[in-house]
Amino acid sequence: MSRFIINGGNRLFGTAKIQGSKNSVLPILAATILAKGESVITNCPDITDVDATVKILRHLGCKVTRTEHTVTVDSTNVDKYDIPDELMREMRSSVVFLGAIIGRMGKASLSTPGGCEIGLRPIDLHLDAIQRFGVNIHEEYAKIEFETVKHLEGTNISLSFPSVGATENIILTACLAKGTTVITNAAREPEISDLADFLNSCGARISGTGEGTVVIEGVEKLHPVQYKVIPDRIVAATYMSAAAMTHGKVRLTNIIPAHIAPVIPIFEEAGCDISVTASTLTVTAPPVLHGIKTVRTMPYPGFPTDMQAPVMAMTTVCSGTSVIIETIFESRYKHVSELLRFGSKIRVDGRMAVIEGVKKLTGAKVIASDLRGGAALVLAGAAAQGSTVIDDVKFIERGYEDICGVLSSLGCDIRAERNTTDGTTAESG
Ligand code: EPZ
Repeated sequence: MSRFIINGGNRLFGTAKIQGSKNSVLPILAATILAKGESVITNCPDITDVDATVKILRHLGCKVTRTEHTVTVDSTNVDKYDIPDELMREMRSSVVFLGAIIGRMGKASLSTPGGCEIGLRPIDLHLDAIQRFGVNIHEEYAKIEFETVKHLEGTNISLSFPSVGATENIILTACLAKGTTVITNAAREPEISDLADFLNSCGARISGTGEGTVVIEGVEKLHPVQYKVIPDRIVAATYMSAAAMTHGKVRLTNIIPAHIAPVIPIFEEAGCDISVTASTLTVTAPPVLHGIKTVRTMPYPGFPTDMQAPVMAMTTVCSGTSVIIETIFESRYKHVSELLRFGSKIRVDGRMAVIEGVKKLTGAKVIASDLRGGAALVLAGAAAQGSTVIDDVKFIERGYEDICGVLSSLGCDIRAERNTTDGTTAESG
């Protein structure tokens, strides 16, 4: 098991370049199987969720080569249509391969993706939508089999909830279907527009992403391309929290300010000065942060649920009381019990968390249990007085590329300790 060791209390200053978006690159890598041939995806983050996605691509028959931030996928010889159980369990978002596999192979077989740390994560919206393309679905306890009756037929789909994954799977299924597909109440996240931009550069005909209604006109075939993934807006906002909590000043480069717009008012309410240019954002924290009246997580362009934990970490050291309401996932407060170990004052009642700010946090021994909750623990450790040890950092490394290196470059005293196979520990960071 690997852990992070942090001697907290340093104010963060300097510049950090933001990685490519995890939630963009995963569906885009899945989409490469729809375009036979060699696609080159650049600005890929070096994170373990990309490792898991590459394993699935290779399992399906793709030849994949990878440098640090470029993944080249030759999907010419895709000859499988299943996602092995162990890979489904390794990464729940493997479900986004579903539409791409059905679009390429006309059938698919995957194990029911289990729930995870932040909720049950059902896929009923995905299944109901895919059925409307003329796909027979046979569900058993552990496996779901999909078989196209004749060919994929474009259709109209109205989502009862603007699910990101379901919207992506519908777009992937519709690209090569016969006829037109219209999605109403589609999710509007920037990662969906990035997926559509990739597919349109491959020859697809998708319009309306970023608004509530998406139209996909099916085409005969798609061709491989080179494509650059957008920056990760959640990673950027996480480092904004780090700067705010440590009363520092941090400049983030390689960002798209419009994607971060939903979180900027929260940091301004806390008393931070935020200045943006076309591709950078600078956070200057005040000597004392102010509490946030109410943060309610909503589908984009509302406040993102993925920023709930990192912003909660910040509110633990704001003066006054803050209120957070998590409306997207039913159990996304697992990080609260660990934040309490730093001396924070948080009460949870159902979907609502009430945070009473404290003057300072004290270093603690904590365990990460999910990606964004784990990031919140790193932020708390960076701000706390004294030493913090965070175990199970594998969750954090699913989505944050070299978080120790980035924070160290900003002045945080943090290092990673890895258990090597012979039981000794090696340090880095
Ligand atoms: C994507 O998950 C992101 N993951 C999540 O980021 C993000 O939190 C979420 O969208 C919301 O923005 C990736 O893009 C890989 P949803 P997804 O379908 O697609 C319910 C992170 O930290 N629902 O929009 O799974 C669901 O239970 C991760 O980077 C159904 O009920 O999210 C949840 O309550 C975590 N039935 C809500 O909708 C379905 O068929 C939102 O889920 C699908 C979803």
